[in-house]
Amino acid sequence: MAVAHPDAPIRELLERIAGPASMPSPDLPAIGAALVTLAGDVTYLAGRIRELGDTSGMIRLHAPERGPRLMLVHRLEGQMGAVHDHRVWVALATVAGLETHRRYRRPASPTDAPTLAEETLVAARESVTLLPPDDIHDHGHVRGRGDPAYCLILTGDDQRRFERTEWDLASGRSRILRPGDGGRWVAAEPMPD
Ligand SMILES: [Fe+2]
Repeated sequence: MAVAHPDAPIRELLERIAGPASMPSPDLPAIGAALVTLAGDVTYLAGRIRELGDTSGMIRLHAPERGPRLMLVHRLEGQMGAVHDHRVWVALATVAGLETHRRYRRPASPTDAPTLAEETLVAARESVTLLPPDDIHDHGHVRGRGDPAYCLILTGDDQRRFERTEWDLASGRSRILRPGDGGRWVAAEPMPD
């Protein structure tokens, strides 16, 4: 895994976000802008997009044990991810296609369903960011809204280190994700008990 010697464009991203990410409250606009710069490097990312192809999944581009990690993510026509939180800061930037991103208000109790706060259509070279505890979201493709996107997702740390929550808005149920549990990939997957 290219952790010790990331490719130059990824190394440049990591250098650019080092200061903003180490602030007491991370400078998310600066982090989002740096991620947009990488998302615009279509020449560099073309090979990784080909590698991911038309599958619903993700490739880890930079995944150290601790600290910021970077993924390339793609979902298929009509696929939205499950509603979840991260417990770490997050930036998402679209490389190609159109990603639908929704942020939800954190309910008073985790057993209550979150309510929609805002919906953003994230086109190529645009970004959205999230800062806990205001980090409940889902994202993916909504049928009829452009092409399913390829997105870069940058998180402040490995979210799977933390206890998190995911929700199923259709049933109103929620589930605690224990450390190591990545949760459901798409909202249409049934939520385990
Ligand atoms: Fe997420």
